[in-house]
This record gives sequence, C-alpha cells and structure tokens, in this order.
Amino acid sequence: MSIQIPRGTQDILPGESEKWQYIEKKAREICERYQYREIRTPIFEHTELFLRGVGDTTDIVQKEMYSFTDRGGREITLRPEGTASTVRSFVEHKMFGLPTQPVKLYYMGPMFRYERPQAGRFRQFVQFGIEAMGSSDPAVDAEVISLAMSFYKELGLNKLKLVINSLGDKESRKAHRDALIAHFQPRIGEFCRDCQSRLEKNPMRILDCKADRDHELMKTAPSIIDYLNDASREYFSKVQQYLAAIGIEFEVDPNLVRGLDYYNHTAFEIMSNAEGFGAITTLCGGGRYNGLVEEIGGPETPGIGFALSIERLLSALNAEGVELPVEQKMDCYLVSLGEQAQDYTVGLLHQLRAAGFSAERDYLGRKIKAQFKAADRFQAKYVAVLGDDELAANKIALKSMEDGTQMDLPLNSFIQKFTELAK
Ligand code: HAM
Repeated sequence: MSIQIPRGTQDILPGESEKWQYIEKKAREICERYQYREIRTPIFEHTELFLRGVGDTTDIVQKEMYSFTDRGGREITLRPEGTASTVRSFVEHKMFGLPTQPVKLYYMGPMFRYERPQAGRFRQFVQFGIEAMGSSDPAVDAEVISLAMSFYKELGLNKLKLVINSLGDKESRKAHRDALIAHFQPRIGEFCRDCQSRLEKNPMRILDCKADRDHELMKTAPSIIDYLNDASREYFSKVQQYLAAIGIEFEVDPNLVRGLDYYNHTAFEIMSNAEGFGAITTLCGGGRYNGLVEEIGGPETPGIGFALSIERLLSALNAEGVELPVEQKMDCYLVSLGEQAQDYTVGLLHQLRAAGFSAERDYLGRKIKAQFKAADRFQAKYVAVLGDDELAANKIALKSMEDGTQMDLPLNSFIQKFTELAK
C-alpha cells in the first residue's frame, strides 16, 4: 500500500496555496500598519516551556502535546501554540530593555496538537498571532482585538461575533476560585475524572469541560464577573469603552474562560456566524496574560495577544462564499515551430522572465495546436509565435488572448516592445 499523509494534517496544493499566500500577505500588511514586527521562533522548544507557559493542567499540556526525548536526552515538544515561545524569546533577548515599548510582535507558522481531527481541527495547523508586551493600557487590548477584526473584515468576512470577558486580576481570580471550589466540591463525584482533578488545581477549567457541560451545577456556577474587584471592573469597562470608540460590536459572555492558563483580565474569542460553518465556530482566541513573562523568568511585564488559524479562516471564507482574488495569470506563452525556433525560445524565455514577466514555453515537443491549448489553460495574456521562417526574417508574431489582436514585432527588440505593450 502506498504511504498516506498522517491523520490531522493536509497537503496544500497549487490552486489552494495561492490563497494561503494571499492571506499571509494580508496578515503581514496589517501588522505593518499596526506596527507589529515579525518574530520567528523554533518549531520545537524544551517541554518545560509549555508546562510553565501554557499550564500543566490544561488539555493542551496533558493530552495534546507532541513530545519526545531527543538523542541528547532532552525533553522536547513541537510547539502547540506561539505565545509561550514568543515570551521565552522576549525574556531571552531582554526585549523588555528595548527603547521602543510596548514590544509588538507577530508570528505565522505551524503549530501541533494531538487532537481528535474533525472539520476545522487539525493536528498540524498554521497560526497567525500577535503579542504586545510591556503595557497595561486597556487601549492595547482594544488595539489587539481591533487588528483581528479588521483582518477578517478586510478579507471579506462579515458574519462575525466578538465575545469578550474579564478574568480579573490575581485577587479577583482567587476569590472566584474559592467560590468555584465551594460550589463544585459537594458533588464533584458526579463529574468526570478530569474535572475531579481540576477541582483543586484549576477549578475554572471545569467550566470549559465538554463531558460535563450539561450538569446542573454548571449552569449555576459562580460567574467571574461577580468576583471582579474594583480595579478589574474598571479595567474591563475601559476596554469596552475603547472598543466602542473604534466602532467594534461585542458581546460580554461571563462564561468565556479560554483553554490556556495564562490569562487574566481581558479574554476574547471571535466566532463565525455563517450558516453551515460547522460545529467549531471559534476563529480566533486571545487575551491578556500579565504574569506570564515573570513565569518564564523575566521581569514583571504585562502582555496581551491573540492567535487565529488560517485553516479556520479559509473555512469561514468558504462558508460566506468569499472568493479571494488569487487568479494565476501568465503574461506570455511562447509557441514555437521548427527546431531552430524552439532553440531560440530558450534564451527568449529567460529574457522575458528576467524583465519581470511570468512566461512559459512548451517542454513536451507538442504540435502548434496543442501549444495554443496549453497557453489557454495557463490563461496567458499574450501568445508569441516563432517559426523558423519568422526567425530568419527577424520577427515574431504576438497575439493578445484578451482582445484577439495580432501584430508582428521585430525579434531583436521583442522584450522592449513587449514591455511597452504589456504594462
Ligand atoms: P487557542 O485558543 O488555543 O489560543 O488557539 C487560537 C486559535 O488557533 C483558535 O481560535 C483556532 O483558530 C486555532 N486553532 C487551535 N487549535 C486548532 C486546531 N487543532 N486546528 C485548527 N485551528 C486551531 C492560543 O493558541 C493562544 N496562544 C492565543 C493567544 C495569543 N493568547 C494570547 N496571545
């Protein structure tokens, strides 16, 4: 049997890869406008980074990491997300000392999670994410959310829902944690084994449990919103004020908890409302993580960011029927007949490409009709025809495939003339 692609991964073939390139280009463009600069970190890190960064009670760390021991006996993990690596690099390169603050970074690349594959859920997926470190101004929270929303809108998505919540500061979280433990403890035996172990370690994660979603205690669980202290409440209301100032609509959902441990204050998700989008509707997730930089060994530094996957973005575009402008067109196809003419097109093709045109010739020794057909398939704007007779007479026939006009051009100044025409 032939070898097949691993489960939960995909090949991105020509036809589809142009869409990826288009989206990646748009991501870079918007980051430039918002003044985020690219960071590229390794695809694998020491496992310890994710235990500390993502949190050792999260599903990601407990069930989903691709971890192995390398030949030198080191514990290594393929990155499941980009925030921990970005923060590690921020600390390692002492970016907290840079003259320009906050430090605003973006990344794009493959992440790996051993999840049950289904529509919109892959084991290798590509995240585009941003992280802003060094400011606890709620205007940065609004900026981060606004970048994600603008990115989607500029790509043509309309059916979006932004949901925000506040997880509060340390003090608020502690109060909420105690209330959650008191709420679940008497009946924790009715919950799944994961939730039982979460009760002491990380009770908030119980709220995110899929197995126990319908338990009656879930509906009556204490909401973080009711445990926010004054400072956290004020912070959250500023974020909302700034979102309104930018003109971004949102819903507050006190049940939004997010699956990673590092969050406090603002947490948010952007979902697709599009019909037929499928069960997994979250396109983008993010939030504030004051405290993570310290956790990774740096000085106390606030931070906030988001990540979104290109896979889910493409599904949303599909569900909304948005066509990306990625037609692949060719400037010129060289048709030749006769051996000498064929030889000549080798050099001519190179000159066309060197002058900046996308161009192609026949490599299969096809007859003239088949060469024209190939030009059609490539959607060539022009076809240049060279036979041995034309070659002898120093001319070449050029046909516009768009309007059908034809002309003869002097062969020795073809590139120059073609440049004038094709501009
Ligand atoms: P996350 O919610 O785990 O957050 O993932 C963010 C986004 O990555 C999701 O909303 C989804 O678009 C995409 N994603 C996650 N898992 C998969 C998968 N298996 N297949 C396809 N797409 C997936 C984080 O990763 C945080 N690091 C976000 C963040 C950045 N928070 C602060 N800064």
